Amino acid sequence: MLFGQGMRIKGNDDMQKQDYYARIEAPDMRDYGVYLQCDKLLACQKPLADMVNGDELQFQIVHQVEELWMKLIAYSLVDVIAFMEENNTHRVVTLMGRVHRLMRMMTMQLDMLETMSPKEYQQIRLQLGNGSGQESPGFKFLLRMPPDLWKAFKTFYLDRHALTVEDIYDGKYDHGDSYVVAEALVEFDELFQKFRANHVYLIQRSIGLGSKSLKGRPVDLLKAGASHRFFPELWDIRAEMTDRWGSQYGVVRDSISEHEKAAE
Ligand code: HEM
Repeated sequence: MLFGQGMRIKGNDDMQKQDYYARIEAPDMRDYGVYLQCDKLLACQKPLADMVNGDELQFQIVHQVEELWMKLIAYSLVDVIAFMEENNTHRVVTLMGRVHRLMRMMTMQLDMLETMSPKEYQQIRLQLGNGSGQESPGFKFLLRMPPDLWKAFKTFYLDRHALTVEDIYDGKYDHGDSYVVAEALVEFDELFQKFRANHVYLIQRSIGLGSKSLKGRPVDLLKAGASHRFFPELWDIRAEMTDRWGSQYGVVRDSISEHEKAAE
């Protein structure tokens, strides 16, 4: 009775799986587990037995971990603003370094979900109601922080020292504190754009760019967000400098290669 044996083996496998699941979900709560609240942490995902497929746990965990990183970014940026107000540049730069690493990690972690097949994602998507990443509490909070960062930078690193963006990048460039803090803001801005751009690639891979979100909005709209700049003044100065420095030679420079000069 090969069929019967097969059934029995499958039954055993299921029991073994349930046993593993029960042990995964009930952590050993020694001091480590108590301090980190591992019991609560591991209860934040759907029960393993209720997952629609083998990718749903990954889907939930990646989103949850990203929310935690955004909480840490927001918390760090609150301190950055306070340190800017004290002109404590060393602290600002160290904390912004942490924020940059967090942003890079967030972007890298999106990659995890590229191991999920389009079909398995469709099964998970049916579980989401009309939920949207645009409702992410961490992301919404982070989108509101750049104006406060800019205000602190402008007040305590430009106005207080009677400096302009042009001064710190070109006219009075000395690679001083105001320049270093400005570049830390630029890096945050750039990494945020890269996160959004990579998220668009992830969408292209899983649901396709021609589709609509669960709120019925065209997914293509996310591309505009991916090129949004938080600190336009800090980007525009680069193009202004290129035009100003370029005015020495007009639109096209003469060649400096002997070979090309001979051909002219
Ligand atoms: C297969 C995986 C994913 C798919 C298919 C997906 C899909 C989408 C779609 C369709 C939107 C647009 C929503 C709308 O217009 O209402 C969106 C927005 C968003 N998603 Fe995802 N997403 C995925 C993974 C993630 C992950 C892991 C994060 C982690 C933080 C995330 C964060 C966001 C955020 C923050 C937005 C708003 C983006 C903005 O306004 O620029 N998504 N996502």
